[in-house]
Amino acid sequence: MAIPKAEWIWHNGQFVKWDEANVHITTHALHYGSSVFEGLRAYESKNGTAILGLEPHVRRLFDSCRILRMDLPYSPEEVSAAIVETVRRNGLKSCYIRPLAYKGSGTIALDARNSPTEFAIIAFDFGRYLGEEGIENGVDVMVSSWRRMAPDTHAGLTKAGGNYVNSGYVTMEAADMGFMEGITLDINGHVSEGSGENVFVVYRGVIYTPPVGASILLGVNRGYVISLAREMGYEVREETFPREMLYIADEIFFSGTAVEVTPVRSVDRIQIGSGGRGPITKRIQDQFFGIIRGDLPDTHGWMTIVK
Ligand SMILES: Cc1ncc(COP(=O)(O)O)c(C=O)c1O
Repeated sequence: MAIPKAEWIWHNGQFVKWDEANVHITTHALHYGSSVFEGLRAYESKNGTAILGLEPHVRRLFDSCRILRMDLPYSPEEVSAAIVETVRRNGLKSCYIRPLAYKGSGTIALDARNSPTEFAIIAFDFGRYLGEEGIENGVDVMVSSWRRMAPDTHAGLTKAGGNYVNSGYVTMEAADMGFMEGITLDINGHVSEGSGENVFVVYRGVIYTPPVGASILLGVNRGYVISLAREMGYEVREETFPREMLYIADEIFFSGTAVEVTPVRSVDRIQIGSGGRGPITKRIQDQFFGIIRGDLPDTHGWMTIVK
């Protein structure tokens, strides 16, 4: 998936041309994974271009920085304004947005606190992550042989660059085995999440999703799906469940900025439900995409219009 160039990148407080947004080879983050990032989407809606979940994504960026003890030299308001401006200035109607804070050049030591915290915002055109087909008909996934990192190893709640080495193993294995994605188990063998998305299971009319203690990233879209499902009257339980719950589920779907809301039609070649998108998944998708497109009112204030 090559990144399509946009014109401008916001880098350390100013806009620079795409090709000029570079770092030095001694950048700490290149060596030790000392970066944190976010992933957001802007959508072309009836109300104009609108960013989904700006406030919670920026909050999570600052939470990640706090855990990694990175001092971002900007306020959340400044970061939010810079994100909006990056989309606007590049004239993008819909796009993926990647804010990235990283430890720059300064030290070869592991303790990065003497290296400056640098910050960039990239925005570029981006389509469906698991394909248009996947959104409607579902994707085939496997349970990964890689575990999600244990809570006392990496901090799973951070969106730290280094954490994604684990996600890379999961996606490479899935691709090599002919699957679209891998679902990891946590250190206790309970279902955790996909390499870059949260997972939901519908079983006998109740919706289950792994809790914060199952080494998940607290997805912004996970929160949105839980809200929508509860508003529709479904019982949603954030609790641990074993791998085999996936095999007997009536429906499974992923949530995440990249995957949006994507149904899962098989796990380890075992068909889920009727082998396509389930009715509850469809209802949640309709609400989710309805709000994003501007067909339904944004009563929760999830969308930020890019003027
Ligand atoms: C590991 C992981 N889990 C879950 C998610 C879903 O999070 P969100 O809904 O905030 O995009 C992501 C994507 O950011 C992720 O990388």
